[in-house]
Amino acid sequence: MQITLERKPLDQVDAGALIVPVFEDVKEQRFGAPDLLESGEFVGKSHDLLLLHNVPGIAAKRVLLAGAGKSVEFRPAECRKLAGEALRFLKARSVKTACWALGSEHASADFAEAVVEGAVLGDFEPDRYKTGNDKKSFDGLSLTGFPVGTSLDDSIARARILAESQNYARALVNEPANHLTPAKVAEAAQALAAEFGLEYEVLDRARMEQLGMGALLGVAQGSAEPPCLIVIGYKTARPASSAHLGLVGKGVTFDSGGISIKPADGMEKMKYDMAGGAAVLGAMRAIAQLKPAVRVTALIPCVENMPGSRAQRPGDIVKAMSGKTVEVINTDAEGRLILADALTYARKLGCTHLVDAATLTGAVVVALGHLNVGLFANNDAMRERVLRAAAAAGDRMWPMPIEDDYKEYLKSAFADISNVGGRWGGAITAAMFLKEFAEDSPWVHLDIAGTAWLDDGKPFLAKGPTGVPVRTLVRLALDWQD
Ligand code: BES
Ligand code: MN
Ligand code: ZN
Repeated sequence: MQITLERKPLDQVDAGALIVPVFEDVKEQRFGAPDLLESGEFVGKSHDLLLLHNVPGIAAKRVLLAGAGKSVEFRPAECRKLAGEALRFLKARSVKTACWALGSEHASADFAEAVVEGAVLGDFEPDRYKTGNDKKSFDGLSLTGFPVGTSLDDSIARARILAESQNYARALVNEPANHLTPAKVAEAAQALAAEFGLEYEVLDRARMEQLGMGALLGVAQGSAEPPCLIVIGYKTARPASSAHLGLVGKGVTFDSGGISIKPADGMEKMKYDMAGGAAVLGAMRAIAQLKPAVRVTALIPCVENMPGSRAQRPGDIVKAMSGKTVEVINTDAEGRLILADALTYARKLGCTHLVDAATLTGAVVVALGHLNVGLFANNDAMRERVLRAAAAAGDRMWPMPIEDDYKEYLKSAFADISNVGGRWGGAITAAMFLKEFAEDSPWVHLDIAGTAWLDDGKPFLAKGPTGVPVRTLVRLALDWQD
């Protein structure tokens, strides 16, 4: 998709469609069909769309009136959705080009970025494996009504990199587990690192054995697919901070549950159990291009969680790289085991601040539904940093408790810690487990089990992987200040 700034006056814009946001509470609409608005047929209600053809005095073939709701409530988050919705609406009708016309009251870089992000995210389809479908590509989007200037060019470029990197993560998540094994994730990471000039290293089973990563290796032992720990590094020539940010993403390419096997119903979705790893990769793709002034290292522990005669059993006790012993009560609580060793390794590499993203628990879906990422932190300043980045990026996150009293839930009679905490507060006990391995590093854990996958498509976003929280992770790095 080409994305450009439109310099022609509105009525002379040559496009398949002119997209005009219409507000419920603005009497004097800049443009459009006063009769329609008066008749009540279209009043600008949020997410109502109306397509007009051959509008007199307008060069564009069509005008898409896009209901934007109340103008005072129209924020970039709304704008992002509306742009995605308009693009998907036009694409479904084989319209290939459009021009977005925003009024002066919303003509800022924030809104320009939201339009570009929404459109690029809306353009994504998880249909790679459908044969014979006529791919409806969208060719070009232009923006008009914004003040012309270089800063806006920068905004558009940045928004595009962010959304494309998010789509990169979505495409990876959508790959089925027979195509995307841990080795293939490593290949993808290597190609990404080569394309964007990042450092790349992969730890194989032998290396992980040397390092004593018993928690990760225990999960991997039931699968014929060899595990790996992928490390991708970004270094800046002009560090504005002595911080070294570590982004850790859960990379379970398929989670059958292992010996504590999951029910068949819905198990096919467990190909998305590497969404945290994909998000971290997507974030590095954007970070490499946007070049924040802080060092960032991504770590993706990659395994397949399978049952079998070699698989880890309930009751097994493994020794993590940190030296702690773990009683594996439930082999389906595998994410925390692989993340434990990845967090320890991140610290060993010198990461001073840690953020992990993981489809970690069904319990976070019970707690927060599909709308908010569950956010846990062992450090107030770090929690605020990530919440601020999330707000700026438009990812919804909700702070959840971390309190030492919950540690009791993870007591094991036979090892230092148990890998499950019983029936209640499952998202919290999972986070408490990770906290033991973040030790004294400022750390945030993002449980994305409820937000990384969209069960029902939305008008602005296809069903399937969402790419959350790519934009937040990038924003965190870009806005980093000591
Ligand atoms: N990958 C799952 C969590 C999950 C559940 C992600 C639903 C997306 C949707 C994780 O590995 C898991 O199985 N967690 C268990 C933990 C339990 C055994 C303590 C769970 O949530 O049931
Ligand atoms: Mn599991
Ligand atoms: Zn899992």
